Amino acid sequence: MKTVTVSLQERSYLIWIGAGILPSGLVPFSSILKDWKHAFLLEDANAAWFGDHVANILNQSAVRCSRMTIPSGESSKSIDQLGSIWNTMLDAKTDRKSIVVAVGGGVVGDLAGFAAASFMRGLRFVQVPTTLLAMVDSSVGGKTGINLPKSKNMVGAFWQPHAVVADIIALDTLPKREFISGLAEVLKYGIIMDRQFFSYLENNVEQILNRAPDTISYLVQRCCELKAGVVSKDERETLGLRAILNYGHTFGHAIEACTSYGQYLHGEAISIGMTMAGKLAVERGLWGADEFDRQTRLLSDLRLPISLVQPVATKDLLAAMQSDKKNEHGNLTLILPDSLGHVSPYRDIPIDDVAATIEYNRSKS
Ligand SMILES: NC(=O)c1ccc[n+]([C@@H]2O[C@H](COP(=O)([O-])OP(=O)(O)OC[C@H]3O[C@@H](n4cnc5c(N)ncnc54)[C@H](O)[C@@H]3O)[C@@H](O)[C@H]2O)c1
Ligand SMILES: [Zn+2]
Repeated sequence: MKTVTVSLQERSYLIWIGAGILPSGLVPFSSILKDWKHAFLLEDANAAWFGDHVANILNQSAVRCSRMTIPSGESSKSIDQLGSIWNTMLDAKTDRKSIVVAVGGGVVGDLAGFAAASFMRGLRFVQVPTTLLAMVDSSVGGKTGINLPKSKNMVGAFWQPHAVVADIIALDTLPKREFISGLAEVLKYGIIMDRQFFSYLENNVEQILNRAPDTISYLVQRCCELKAGVVSKDERETLGLRAILNYGHTFGHAIEACTSYGQYLHGEAISIGMTMAGKLAVERGLWGADEFDRQTRLLSDLRLPISLVQPVATKDLLAAMQSDKKNEHGNLTLILPDSLGHVSPYRDIPIDDVAATIEYNRSKS
């Protein structure tokens, strides 16, 4: 079992990583969560089998355990669902000694985190991610929230967990497409921060696709270390450092929005987004074509899409990119690589160049 520390002074916490660590009782919950009396378990319907393991372990610690199962899918990150969680928490006699435990992917993690942040003005919570995306990204860093009908992640809070338990066996039932989608975020860390890690991915494609437990544990560990480093320096995204995590995301979010969040999984859209951003960096003379080719090759080797095959008008994509809430003062901000393992923000890219990149990508499909 490995641990990664997220250093945030009094809000610091550990991420526990390994295969089978939760059912075997290796995670010392009672010493992490002193004076806890009750756990309110929120679980994704598709991860309820892993919720059984969590409930067993909590029962062994003589903690009263309530469970609520959330329907799978992004539509659960809603005002209605949050309201029903608050009411169920009340009925379950949830109080300040209770811990909220999220068992699921990013949807349940974001929802449970926000329920924990808001119920009785803030309860402790623990993330037990069950998707690759949640293990390497959403469960770390303290962003929680829900969607409004017209805007994703519009209401929420920064609320750090007390612990994250990434047990690789939770991925056993994760569908292949979801697993591969999560790999886009894994590869992203290599491009933005760690060229050695990128080489490791290149050299271990088969083990990754076969989900070899040691390989996946290492991937999760390295991604968590990298994200923890960024979050520790810029917890609330005020210094601009956390923005590097958005590599490929301005293009990707626009692709998701213009296809009504129905055609591409998040990681798939980010994969195409990174391909567009990388090409733009090459065209502007910022990044070497050889390194861009390595990015393209690895994305393809990992079975991720690299070109936009859905019929989306370039002008619609540009409009969606310009309304991205990560932009400052309405100026398009793009994170582009300058060398493998390093990216920088750019605010002065002519929109015609962005349009040309989209057109080029489409012509390749
Ligand atoms: N808070 C953050 O920093 C952050 C970062 C990135 C993404 N997010 C959010 O995360 C969400 C996406 O997360 P996701 O990709 O994990 O999606 P998700 O939670 O919807 O899970 C994807 C699918 O996998 C299923 N599933 C989950 N665990 C499973 C398991 N072990 N076996 C079988 N099926 C399983 C779910 O039911 C769902 O159908 C989005 O809402 C996004 O906004 C948040
Ligand atoms: Zn992402």
